[in-house]
Order: sequence, then structure tokens, then C-alpha cells
Amino acid sequence: MIVSGSASQGLAAALAAELGEELARVEYESFPDGERVVRVPPVEGRAVVVASTVDDSAHVELLQLQDAVREAGAEEVITVIPYMGYARQDEAFEPGEPVSARAMARAISTGTDEVYTVNVHEPAVCEFFDVPATNVDATPHLADPLPEDLHDPVFLAPDASALPLAESVRDAYGPGDADFFEKTRHSGTDVEITPSETEVAGRDVVVVDDIVATGSTMSEAIGLLDDPRRVFVACVHPLLAANARTKLAKAGVDDVVATDTIERVVSAVSAAPAVADALGRE
Ligand code: R5P
Repeated sequence: MIVSGSASQGLAAALAAELGEELARVEYESFPDGERVVRVPPVEGRAVVVASTVDDSAHVELLQLQDAVREAGAEEVITVIPYMGYARQDEAFEPGEPVSARAMARAISTGTDEVYTVNVHEPAVCEFFDVPATNVDATPHLADPLPEDLHDPVFLAPDASALPLAESVRDAYGPGDADFFEKTRHSGTDVEITPSETEVAGRDVVVVDDIVATGSTMSEAIGLLDDPRRVFVACVHPLLAANARTKLAKAGVDDVVATDTIERVVSAVSAAPAVADALGRE
């Protein structure tokens, strides 16, 4: 049975269809004091809990769902975290800070037999779980909605760590160069980016990253492009906080393509086939 968190209902439904498994009808309610509760139907055998931890409430809800499916009879609990919040704090960057990704992973591990993430910010985060954890790659599917007639395309990553993502989208698309910018982050919203050496004048550019959060990284990077023909943004996780979508528009982006690990208007690509493959289709 596929059991969805409230923020992942579209992806959970798509995954149920991919796997041919029943989709649970889950109820989500809040008490007057703001505390939340979920209710799941009886479960036989395996429960696959699918919940992006997009905010603190979603983290709590995931722990509740894991507990609820065991109470409801699940013999095995698989947890799919399409977007794992707090994964970017994968080390204590300043004295006194937590390794938030590890704290979240430990908590999630207590209620599950196995974990699947989708393009988690750093694959090494999977090692923080106390149960087997697998990182699923959905980036090849980001090539699907791109126009078939990209002109002399170049796939750019906003920093070196995202280059494999850009290369993956390029490989799935077909022709094109791949390169990266150098990025220095000064704060949550202030990033400094140095251009890549690849010539982009007159070419179609696809800038690829794992997450677009505030949009600062993307808009800074796009602002450095010298006379591109068209600019597309491709990301796995369209967090698109605050005015991020406006920033992208004002930076001159022609289109944004993203997956449904976070369910937004731009989530044209489903991560469900990649997750279904990893879970093992019948
Ligand atoms: C950071 O290393 C990530 O890969 C993304 O580049 C970052 O999370 C994007 O954040 P923002 O949109 O706030 O610049």
C-alpha cells in the first residue's frame, strides 16, 4: 500500500499507478492547538510511506505516518523521501550548529526498514540513516519536457557539485556541452558566481541544479550569461520560496522544468518512474 504525506499526494498517486499498488486514503487533521494527526486505513504486508519533508510540519507528519502504518498492521515500512528537508545542513558549518541532516535521518530511521531519497542534496547524507538508504536519480527525466529543437545547447551547473546533474540531463537530452560556474555562498540569499568559460552567445542554455530555493543562485548565474538565445532552468526540487519564481522571470528565464518531489506549477516531470524502478516493479 502506498501511503502519502500531505505534501506528496500527486507523486504518491503516480507511484501507486507505476507499481500497481493500492493508494491509501489518508486523513490529515489539525487540533485547535496546532498539533496534527493522521489516520490511515488497515495495512497488510508492506507500506510505502511517500513524504517530502518540505517544512517542519511535514517532518512531524512523516514520523506520525510511519508510526500509524505499523499500528495499522504493516509488516514492513519503506520510506520514500522525494525531497529531504534539512539535507543541505550536512555538516556543522559554524561552531555550535547541528548536523541537521543527521538529526533528521536518525529520527526517520526509527520508524522504517528502508529509506529512498531522490537526488538528496549530497548522496553521503544517505549514510546518516541507521537503516539501508538509497538515493534515486530523477535527473534524466528532466530532459523530457525540454524543446526538441534546442539550438547548440549548453547545460550549465551553478557550481561544481551540480555538474554531474547537468551532465545527466545533457546525456538524456542528446547533443550539447556541459560546464559549471564557480559559486561562493555568503549567506542564505547572497551568492557570488563566477562565469564558466563556455561561450553561450546565440546558444540555448539549460541551467541545472538540484534545488531552486530562493532563486538567488539561478538568477545570479543566468545574469552572467553573455547573450544566450534562450534560457531554461531545470531542477529536481522546485522549492521556489518567497519570490524565487519572479526572480527567475526577471532574470530572463524562458521556462522552468522540475519534478514533482515538491508539487508546484512547474512540476511537469514525475519522479515516480525512477522511484518505482528503484523499489523494483513487479
Ligand atoms: C546548494 O548547494 C544547492 O545545490 C542549490 O544551489 C541551492 O540550494 C539553491 O538555493 P537558492 O535558490 O536559495 O540560491
